[in-house]
Amino acid sequence: MNDVTRRGFIQTAAAGTVAGLLAPSSVRAAANGSAAISGPVVVASANGLGAVDKAAGMIGGGSDTLDAVIAGVNLVEEDPSDHSVGYGGLPNEDGVVELDSCVMHGPTCRAGSVAALRNIKTPSRVAQVVMQRTDHVMIVGEGALRFARAHGFEEVNLLTDDARKIWLRWKETHSNRDDWITPEDPNDGAGADARAELQYTYGTINCCALAPGGDLSGVTTTSGLSYKIPGRVGDSPIIGAGLYVDNEVGAAGSTGRGEAVIKICGAHTVVEEMRHGLSPKEACLAALRRIEKTTTEKRLRRKDGRPNFDVKFYAVAKDGRYGAAAIWSGAKYSVHADGKTRHEPCAFLYQRG
Ligand code: GLY
Repeated sequence: MNDVTRRGFIQTAAAGTVAGLLAPSSVRAAANGSAAISGPVVVASANGLGAVDKAAGMIGGGSDTLDAVIAGVNLVEEDPSDHSVGYGGLPNEDGVVELDSCVMHGPTCRAGSVAALRNIKTPSRVAQVVMQRTDHVMIVGEGALRFARAHGFEEVNLLTDDARKIWLRWKETHSNRDDWITPEDPNDGAGADARAELQYTYGTINCCALAPGGDLSGVTTTSGLSYKIPGRVGDSPIIGAGLYVDNEVGAAGSTGRGEAVIKICGAHTVVEEMRHGLSPKEACLAALRRIEKTTTEKRLRRKDGRPNFDVKFYAVAKDGRYGAAAIWSGAKYSVHADGKTRHEPCAFLYQRG
C-alpha cells in the first residue's frame, strides 16, 4: 500500500471493492474512505531496527507514541558502537562530542529540542523535558547542559576510546579536509572524495510512529557531522527540517547531509506533500528533488553534476501508508507494520555507479 498513490487508494476505497486486498493487513479501508490500522506503524532509519521494534511493542502495550519512539532511539543513543548518535558518537574538530535532537508530539502539537548538547547520553529525553517543562521549543549549548543538569540528567564523557582514535586519525591527516572554506577558493573544504578516505558520518536516527488510534509522534537524534566546527547545528534538532509531525496528516524525518535538509525545510516539505495527496514515498522523493535543485555549489556536485552526498527521508501517513527515499540507491530503512519488524529498501533518485 505504501507504493499506491493516495488518489489510487481513495478511488479504490470509493469503489468499495478490493481495498482490503491491496492493503497490508495493518491498513484497512474504513467506511468513510479514510483508513483504520490494526496495529502500530513505525518507521526509522536503517540503524533503528531495534528502535522500531521497541516503539511498536510499547504502543501495542498502550504507551504514548512519543514515549515509545524516544525509548526506541534511546537504545541507539546509549550504544557505544553506533558512531553517529549519542554515546560513542564521533566528535567535533576539537574532539568534543556535541549532540542534537528534537521531538514532536502529534496529539498536542508540542515540540522540544536541544542542540550542541555535551555530556548527556540521551539528548532526545532532554528535548522531551524541554517540551514538557519549559515555555520554549529549543535550548542550545551551555544552556542546554545546565537545563539537563537541573533536571537530574547524569553527566558522562561521551567520547569513547574507539571514537577518540577515529577522531585522532582525522586530526593527524586532515590537512584541508575540514569544513573551513577560503574566500579565494569556494570549492575547497572537505569534498566527498576527501571524506571517503576517512571515517566521516552524518549518521543519525529518525523514528516516527502511528498508533492504531491515529496519533503520531517522532524523534530525531544525532551526534551530527563528524569533525564539525564546534557549535555547528545540523537538521536533526530543527523542527521542520530533521523532523515534522502533523497529527492530521503524517510524520516525517531525515538523515544525511543536514545542511541540504535545512535549506528546503525537509521534513515539513514531506508532510506538506502528503497533505496535498502524495504517498509517503512520493513525498520523500519530491523533497529530494528540491534538494537536487537547491544544491548549487560545485564542490557538492560530482563530475556528472549529481550531488556528491546523500540524504534520506522517512515518512508515515495518518492512514498507515509509509515510505522512504534516498538520493542514492542501495539504502534501507527500518519498518514495523503488519506486526512485523524488518528492513525495506528506500526508493531513490539515482542508481549508484
Ligand atoms: N543529519 C544529521 C546532521 O547533518 O547533523
